[in-house]
Amino acid sequence: MSVSQSNLLDQVLDYANRANPYPIYAKMRENPIQRQADGRYVVSSYELVKSLVNDPRMSVDMRKSNEPTIRVEQEEPGFVFQDPPRHDWLRHQVISRFTPELISSLRPRLEEIVKGLLDAQRGQNQIDIVDNFAYPLPVTAICELLGVPREDEAQFHIWSTMIIKGSNLGRDKDAVKEAQQGRDLLNNYMGRLIDTIQQQPRPGLLSAMIHDNTIEKRMNRTELVTTATLLLIAGHETTVNLITNSTLTLLRHPEAFERLRRHPAIIANMIEEVLRYEPPVQFTMRNALTDLSIKGVKIPQGSIVMLMNAAANRDPAHFKEPDRFDPERPAIEHFSFGGGIHYCVGAPLARLEADIALTALARRLKNPRLVQDPPPYRESPTLRGPRHLLVSFERIED
Ligand code: HEM
Repeated sequence: MSVSQSNLLDQVLDYANRANPYPIYAKMRENPIQRQADGRYVVSSYELVKSLVNDPRMSVDMRKSNEPTIRVEQEEPGFVFQDPPRHDWLRHQVISRFTPELISSLRPRLEEIVKGLLDAQRGQNQIDIVDNFAYPLPVTAICELLGVPREDEAQFHIWSTMIIKGSNLGRDKDAVKEAQQGRDLLNNYMGRLIDTIQQQPRPGLLSAMIHDNTIEKRMNRTELVTTATLLLIAGHETTVNLITNSTLTLLRHPEAFERLRRHPAIIANMIEEVLRYEPPVQFTMRNALTDLSIKGVKIPQGSIVMLMNAAANRDPAHFKEPDRFDPERPAIEHFSFGGGIHYCVGAPLARLEADIALTALARRLKNPRLVQDPPPYRESPTLRGPRHLLVSFERIED
């Protein structure tokens, strides 16, 4: 693939490049902070992404940006789009309950879900890893964790898709409008659910946040709605890509898949390498709170700055042979869960789900083979992963 230097961000966004955006990221890194024709800045080296993800002059609050389409007016965005001090308080409400003990207590239930999904494939010899495995697992997990009825998935998935399409960088006005509608619909749904739980407590994080009397200040209804909506979307639109990207990568490297089957203990490092190599979230967005000069490039206040996490993850200045998938790579410090104060709250849950899912696939699928390579991809350039991943196999082992 030959890549020209002009409008590299447009090339990343172009669906035609979804299956392999990495040569474009390599081209970006030649000039690791660059202004695009539309006035946005793209940052792609490991060093600069690391520095800017930790820089308090970088805001996630798009209400402060100078781009009208992205400046969606929202009274109370989810805390991933809020700066301190509001961000810190809201994040604390979640993180203080999302304890390592809670996450590890989910293991038996997650194993049961995975077992059920694979048992359901007995008698078949082809599976769509996305629809039949990698999507239902995190959806069921996040619904049960929050206390959201699993049977409402068909509804909220439509709204979540509308939101993700529109948060597609605010370029397409119709998509931005659709995202706003999706957000309103999902927030209304969540509001009704919160009112129900207010009357009748139930298991799950939402009920715990609503009924907790031990904390200094309770979350109000709007805070509860936007936080719950953020967790629901983040919990089910990302892990699906991690499980699917991992399956695809392992089937492209059958020796690694076989190694995992024989030595399940290698799974933790293998997941970090897939996260580095095929990040489920490819980039994140910031805007400059003040006029800045970075490596001699002037960035006016309010400008959008794209942090290309997936490009930083393959920076040869930081990783040896970055384009090689190496499940034994030591010390894999990637940006796939972001960094700094917005580091992913759900990382331990995502890792646990991927661990259980991939270990079970490696153990139970006899002679798995990719049916189509590359597979068809989801539209989103940000939440990047296959839309379907057909895998043939001889049988499902016990
Ligand atoms: C493989 C799966 C996942 C990936 C790759 C991922 C990736 C990310 C990234 C890159 C960020 C930083 C965003 C930014 O800096 O602008 C983030 C933040 C966040 N993620 Fe995840 N995520 C995953 C799974 C989850 C899950 C399962 C949950 C919830 C249960 C979750 C909840 C969140 C929340 C609440 C934030 C905002 C944190 C903050 O602003 O303080 N994520 N995630």
